[in-house]
Amino acid sequence: MAYTLAPLPYDFAALEPFISGDIMHVHYEKHHQAYCDNTNKALAGTALEGKSIEEVLENLSQLPEDKRSAVRNQAGGYFNHTLFWNCMKPQGGGKPAGDLLKVLEDSFGSFESFQEKFTAAAMSVFGSGWAWLVAKDGKLQIVQTPNQDSPVSQGMTPLFAIDVWEHAYYLQYKNLRADYVKAFWNVADWDGVGKRLIQTK
Ligand SMILES: [Fe+2]
Repeated sequence: MAYTLAPLPYDFAALEPFISGDIMHVHYEKHHQAYCDNTNKALAGTALEGKSIEEVLENLSQLPEDKRSAVRNQAGGYFNHTLFWNCMKPQGGGKPAGDLLKVLEDSFGSFESFQEKFTAAAMSVFGSGWAWLVAKDGKLQIVQTPNQDSPVSQGMTPLFAIDVWEHAYYLQYKNLRADYVKAFWNVADWDGVGKRLIQTK
């Protein structure tokens, strides 16, 4: 069955003033929709058609070479954005609690140190890409991926992400990625991250 976009879990303008409604409309309705539609086109007739998006991203090597990079880019974009919408919420931000806070402290020294390292990762992605908090082999790590590459293709479980493609911030922040990353912390959905963390155990 063809992939479709899950509804955005909040109103387009709900993340204002941190992420504008204009950005959310273009990002979800144009960019994410295009990744979804192009994933369906790229997978048509391949052995992975009809599989879960995670299964597709884990098994890119099973695709014929002439389809592989299209699926890698489009299916990555489709999956990554679905996760991204669920890393944010209105009235988010602040500090996580419970198990998530403890795991972040154990992994990075303190929540503030995690925030610094994640911000540095988001800022140092060259060109278009993503910064991630992922779980792999029972440990948390901060990683970057270029373009629409997904950590799922590297055997990692993504817990939290920031999209640092210019399309994620340019309409509101122009070229000032640092201001966008700073604003992003105000909409971080720690409850969502905590739920994904439990599922990895
Ligand atoms: Fe994006």
